[in-house]
Amino acid sequence: MRKETSLIDTQTEVKSGAEAPTARPAMIKVAGLHKSIRNGARMVDILKGLDFEIPTGQFAAIMGSSGSGKSTLLGLLAGLDTPSSGDVFVNGTSISYLPEDKLAQVRGRSIGFVFQSYQLIPTLTAFENVLLPYELNAESQSDGKARALSLLQSVGLSDRLDHYPVQLSGGEQQRVALARAFVLRPPIVLADEPTGNLDSTNGSHVLELLLNLNKTEGTTLVLVTHDPVLATYADRRIVLRDGLIISDDINLNPATL
Ligand SMILES: Nc1ncnc2c1ncn2[C@@H]1O[C@H](COP(=O)(O)OP(=O)(O)O)[C@@H](O)[C@H]1O
Ligand SMILES: [Mg+2]
Repeated sequence: MRKETSLIDTQTEVKSGAEAPTARPAMIKVAGLHKSIRNGARMVDILKGLDFEIPTGQFAAIMGSSGSGKSTLLGLLAGLDTPSSGDVFVNGTSISYLPEDKLAQVRGRSIGFVFQSYQLIPTLTAFENVLLPYELNAESQSDGKARALSLLQSVGLSDRLDHYPVQLSGGEQQRVALARAFVLRPPIVLADEPTGNLDSTNGSHVLELLLNLNKTEGTTLVLVTHDPVLATYADRRIVLRDGLIISDDINLNPATL
């Protein structure tokens, strides 16, 4: 009798193990990703076959020296660029070969960006810059202003709402860009060297705010950085060299899976 019970238990375990994976679903999945570009007469391979998954809510750092392919990879994750072969899946759907109008929808609704160079609109105030994604993408405008105000408050800029970018310091401009990236509550935020133009004090402040927003909003965050100190804040570090992943410490942090 006892034996029979344990046999049944074993079978049940095997069955449920096969049907119900314990890992969280991937918010981003990269499969066989290649990117080549034509440079004069010859093709240059920039990304040479990348495979990885980023679970929902994870904070992943992409590292590697200059020229290793980090920005190219981020552009592909963002749907700003098309792979030569392979796929990028966002929340289970391939975005790699969508027509431009569908891709623009994914970019607008699912992905927030933070760039090294802030990329604010110079003719709009801080508040208007943060509100802009709402005006371009949101189905309902009703809570946009309150959301923009609350984000600007959370990055410490309540007293800079009517300032234009040129009237703000670099750190302040990047804090506006952070608020803008999160305003539509995107499931994914991608940041390419967001502290690269800032001194270390402002850079740390921006990173701290980015991490706070990431935690409170439950976003999946991919941060490109060549700064090993910043990368220690991440759940995981994926290191590129010459278009290939040379290390990925996700397996050292199984708790983050
Ligand atoms: N449009 C392009 N034309 C020619 N070479 C490019 C282009 N874009 C990127 N590259 C090359 O691809 C490599 C990777 O670039 P990039 O992704 O910007 O690296 P990273 O962000 O890690 O510094 C570099 O050698 C760069 O010179
Ligand atoms: Mg780069």
